[in-house]
Amino acid sequence: MRLTVIGTGYLGATHAACMAELGHEVLGVDVDPDKVAALRAGRVPFHEPGLPGLIAKHTASGRLRFTTDYAEAGAFGEVHFVCVGTPQRSGSEGADLTYVDAAFAAIAGHAAPGALLVGKSTVPVGTAGRLAAALDAEVAWNPEFLREGFAVEDTLRPDRLVFGVGSARAESILRAVYAPVLAAGAPLVVADFPTAELVKTAANAFLATKISFINAMAEVCEAAGGDVGVLAEAIGYDDRIGRKFLRAGVGFGGGCLPKDIRAFAHRADELGVSLAFLREVDAINLRRRDKVVALARELCGGAVQGARVAVLGAAFKPDSDDIRDSPALDVAARLRLEGADVTVYDPEALDNARKAFPLLGYALSAEEALRGADLVLHLTEWPQFREIDPERAATLVGRPRIVDGRGALDADRWTAAGWHFRALGRPAPAGERPATGLPGEEKRRP
Ligand code: UDX
Repeated sequence: MRLTVIGTGYLGATHAACMAELGHEVLGVDVDPDKVAALRAGRVPFHEPGLPGLIAKHTASGRLRFTTDYAEAGAFGEVHFVCVGTPQRSGSEGADLTYVDAAFAAIAGHAAPGALLVGKSTVPVGTAGRLAAALDAEVAWNPEFLREGFAVEDTLRPDRLVFGVGSARAESILRAVYAPVLAAGAPLVVADFPTAELVKTAANAFLATKISFINAMAEVCEAAGGDVGVLAEAIGYDDRIGRKFLRAGVGFGGGCLPKDIRAFAHRADELGVSLAFLREVDAINLRRRDKVVALARELCGGAVQGARVAVLGAAFKPDSDDIRDSPALDVAARLRLEGADVTVYDPEALDNARKAFPLLGYALSAEEALRGADLVLHLTEWPQFREIDPERAATLVGRPRIVDGRGALDADRWTAAGWHFRALGRPAPAGERPATGLPGEEKRRP
């Protein structure tokens, strides 16, 4: 089939490349000529494992092309996928639909008779119905559930497909688009517009709630002397709860969960339904960042002013260079504001971090960041940070003090190597003594 994919950001570029991989002829459309030029040359402007290879393969085969021209897109496509962003509106919790509305209006103005316009962007419930009523074209909604870092895999082998359709014809067109995925056994849920839109927001709200639930338990563990890691393991053995998304730590960030739960609560208010608990989910999440800042102060003897702080991680999660609403950079920037001398290292996100936070210091390796540090903060769970040898690390820093903001490091190993070790929701390891940071405190060596 001939498909267009409008918006070639993170979602659109992945969708376009994966649709070409499924055997379709695909035209990616973007209003940004620089993005289009980069993609034409096979350059992917963000880090996503497997995607550059797919784009190179299908731009070379001619099955995947890119353009800025909506007239060309309209003449080409039988199905048009809209994959533009829905950021949080400035000064409001609600979603900004400017790009979605503009993309639908632009393609509807050029689409051939009978073409299907399919929204993939995450939108407030009611958007598909509004667009269908306003436009002279058939609309469908097909939400995506891809995770950054696994975007290609999640698109080619999704755990489910959801088609929000208003006619049997739209359903059969979407079935044809995804025929190989369906043949491979992916479950399909066919729904009306509001349900399809809500599946996406409900899924993200559930995931965010699960993370904030375990982080609230971390707060209770901190107050009561429990260990949230052990607690999560024990409750996770219950199949009804499950172990996924129960990693307590500095919380969720990124371009989806934070803004999606806010937009959902806002939209529910408009509909006269209270989803106030989502505001608490948001508040718990942000409190974990406060807690890391408080622990940093505590380990530095009350204030971080003048302390050299090494921050391991800048991306909002590993396997990504995405720094949108990154807990790691939020904490780093706050410590910098409190007078700390902050040096950040991340395997993939340094360029993005530098542009967004030019006043922070940056290192080109974890070792360089650690050198001379008075405090180390582990804030993005890259596998390579788990492999750092605490004994060697202790020889690099000025003072061996670390906060594990992801609950991923081996507390006993770090403590045995002489480190003052703190993790969120977990008691200080046995034998650990609180660092005072006061003048006269001896630097400890293993
Ligand atoms: C999320 C959804 O998972 C995806 O289905 C949706 O399409 C887009 O939003 P993504 O933003 O890529 O995907 O990240 P995800 O893997 O869900 O992680 C979100 C955040 O939660 C990260 O900051 C991660 O570090 C954090 N997290 C995740 C935890 O703090 N604890 C956990 O147990 C799991």
